[in-house]
Amino acid sequence: AMTRHYKFDILLQNVTRLCHTKSMVTVNGQFPGPRIVAREGDQLLIRVINHVQNNISIHWHGIRQLQSGWADGPAYITQCPIQTGQSYVYNYTIVGQRGTLWWHAHISWLRSTVYGPIIILPKRGVPYPFEKPYKEVPIIFGEWFNADTEAVVNQALQTGGGPNVSDAYTINGLPGPLYNCSAKDTFKLKVKPGKTYLLRLINAALNDELFFSIANHTLTVVDADAVYVKPFETEILLIAPGQTTNVLLKTKPHFPNATFFMEARPYATGLGTFDNSTVAGIVEYEAPSHTLHSSFSIKKLPLFKPVLPPLNDTSFATNFTNRLRSLASSQYPANVPQKVDKQFFFTVSLGTNPCPSNQTCQGPNGTMFAASVNNVSFAMPSTALLQAHHFGLSNSVYSSNFPTRPVPFNYTGTPPNNTMVGNGTKLLVIPFNTSVELIMQDTSILGAESHPLHLHGFNFFVVGQGFGNFDPKKDPANFNLVDPVERNTVGVPSGGWVAIRFLADNPGVWFMHCHLEVHTSWGLKMAWVVLDGNLPNQKLLPPPADLPKC
Ligand code: C2O
Repeated sequence: AMTRHYKFDILLQNVTRLCHTKSMVTVNGQFPGPRIVAREGDQLLIRVINHVQNNISIHWHGIRQLQSGWADGPAYITQCPIQTGQSYVYNYTIVGQRGTLWWHAHISWLRSTVYGPIIILPKRGVPYPFEKPYKEVPIIFGEWFNADTEAVVNQALQTGGGPNVSDAYTINGLPGPLYNCSAKDTFKLKVKPGKTYLLRLINAALNDELFFSIANHTLTVVDADAVYVKPFETEILLIAPGQTTNVLLKTKPHFPNATFFMEARPYATGLGTFDNSTVAGIVEYEAPSHTLHSSFSIKKLPLFKPVLPPLNDTSFATNFTNRLRSLASSQYPANVPQKVDKQFFFTVSLGTNPCPSNQTCQGPNGTMFAASVNNVSFAMPSTALLQAHHFGLSNSVYSSNFPTRPVPFNYTGTPPNNTMVGNGTKLLVIPFNTSVELIMQDTSILGAESHPLHLHGFNFFVVGQGFGNFDPKKDPANFNLVDPVERNTVGVPSGGWVAIRFLADNPGVWFMHCHLEVHTSWGLKMAWVVLDGNLPNQKLLPPPADLPKC
């Protein structure tokens, strides 16, 4: 293991897409941002220096941060933001993880332009549990807004309405030939025939789950959220914001000069507004070497395009997620908690709040949108929760009375009768090493939509999921406690529920939120406090000296 140093200069940069130039916040002027490459066991020291007017913080999405909660990054949760002219060194070690993760800004909507891949190679000398790839290629999906995204979110929050949708999806920052003005901004993957490529897929889009496919090619899924899975083949895959998936792409033995499209576009079950468009990239086979110098011109083969499921293809989504299983081998066991110390039931909802009398609101029937967990719409504090917890100042910053059960009602009935959403900075406190089972129930209060719920600081096992109301008498009997997928972001199905288990072995304050950015902005977020254990390696360490102040 070694220590790797990175320097992230937060800079404004002019970037042009769709014939539209905007000045935007970037890391080192790059869009998407730089790659972090490390091995399992390495320590990372990443100095982030803020040269722009916006406050910033960076989150290392999916990194376990064992005992290093000060480096997790969500603004006002584990740290105050890094202010203009200030810097902060994120210091953490990658423990027991290998695969693909990613980093992104974790304040307001700055992650729309501030994001990049984290590539974690296995320890030196440890092979992949699948065929060694000829080449590895990160493929990061994003969303491009012609407008400044800070203005987009601020407008939505001030009017209580929905934000403007993006103007394009992107692959590695490029919209591709199906958009205006963008043929030259197309991601191209040049391949050799008869080789295996490892594609490291990351969904960094703000507000959409995506289907992805490459024409005439089968993909083998081998890893999700930096955990190996039992390999399976698919033509199409589904990836929610926050999730990462590694797939093997085997190129065909003879396909000189052929060109195949790869495409991604949203999976959307709700009535909400979203960007209904398609990003395309190109897989291009190289010319066979014997023709390179020939004087014959090579006839280009026709272009092949993939077929993606309809926008609302829930059965595809369900089948796909059901196929994801932990590898659960002796070398990579699935340590699923078999007993549960505490069971929690959370409703995750989009709903509305009354419009303040001095305002006109653009939400449904003149209300304002609000989103909640167990009817609490999370109010962001003005100082960091982790500091408040560590220094015993919690009383003035948050309360420890997060409701562990919602007001019960028919969560998926029509019309559902729960519109009572309150605001608060409420946290759920649990002792060190609590074995947690959490049922998350979607409620169809407004246009049903899946919610990709992301938990900081832990991986969890997805032991069950279903449609309708969770039934505590029947459903647990069908839980998979043998090889459930282990991940950090899971889709709570629209009109359904998901059950996860995790061992709370990481002391600190851990954010949990919907990774659809607009839902987070509306309050679909909460935080856990995991108390210290008794042993020295069970305690949150003191904060680093350069931890930003609010
Ligand atoms: Cu990828 Cu709390 O975020």
